[in-house]
Amino acid sequence: MIKMDSKNLLYEGKAKSVFQGENPDEVIIDFRDDMTAGDGAIKENMGQKGYINSVICAKIFETLESEGVETQLIELCKPCVMKAKKLDMIPIEVIVRNIATGSIIRKFPFEDKAPFNPPLIQMDFKDDEFHDPMLNDAISIALGIASKEDLDTLRELALKVNEVMNKMFKDIGIILVDFKIEFGKDNDGNIILGDEISPDSCRLWDAETLDMLDKELFRQGKDDEVIDDDEVIDAYEEVFNRLLTEEDKEKWGI
Ligand code: C5P
Repeated sequence: MIKMDSKNLLYEGKAKSVFQGENPDEVIIDFRDDMTAGDGAIKENMGQKGYINSVICAKIFETLESEGVETQLIELCKPCVMKAKKLDMIPIEVIVRNIATGSIIRKFPFEDKAPFNPPLIQMDFKDDEFHDPMLNDAISIALGIASKEDLDTLRELALKVNEVMNKMFKDIGIILVDFKIEFGKDNDGNIILGDEISPDSCRLWDAETLDMLDKELFRQGKDDEVIDDDEVIDAYEEVFNRLLTEEDKEKWGI
């Protein structure tokens, strides 16, 4: 397997590093334990997070693939290390909301916890310098980051991802409140789901207690100036334990 060293490093994100793979069309993604909030201003090392997120992401991507959504995943080589298709990423964060919470209720007069039916799709420009501002079609097209057809495809795929994930989480007693996904294009111009889906990028609530099982615990801890690392990792582990079957664990050597 290709070495994950600085020579092969293509891109270092806030929580993942992307290395050139052996094949020119492939990359190796290293899921790190770093956790950030506030456009990367606050950074912490959260033990085991990379391991947990990489496995959760592989499980979700595999399920999406089985339901006809093409993803970047080639294989999870081992926890933390994913072999993936090399994509030209579209700098748009596609956010799907089933329940009103978070930034949408700070920006608009939606009632806290009101359901969105149909789900609300929002697109933000992925750019820390500009603090990820909300996009509309005209702005995306004028920026040259997506065509009208691309935007329609992103919406269609986002709704399909939501449908599959809603069922996946419902089956394990978790409410999928909202999530963020990113897409890229392969060499043939096909739009493919990339990046990751994990408790870093979703809001997940226990269906009975409504306890949070995601990164929101870290964000709130940051606001209160007391981040309880164990609480955050325990929540991620809860999602991991509910989602993975014995077969999955055997396959990935867990
Ligand atoms: O903060 P906000 O309510 O806009 O977040 C909506 C959803 O998108 C949440 O699930 C959050 O975890 C995710 N998100 C993300 N990365 C961002 C912005 C939002 O994963 N940069």
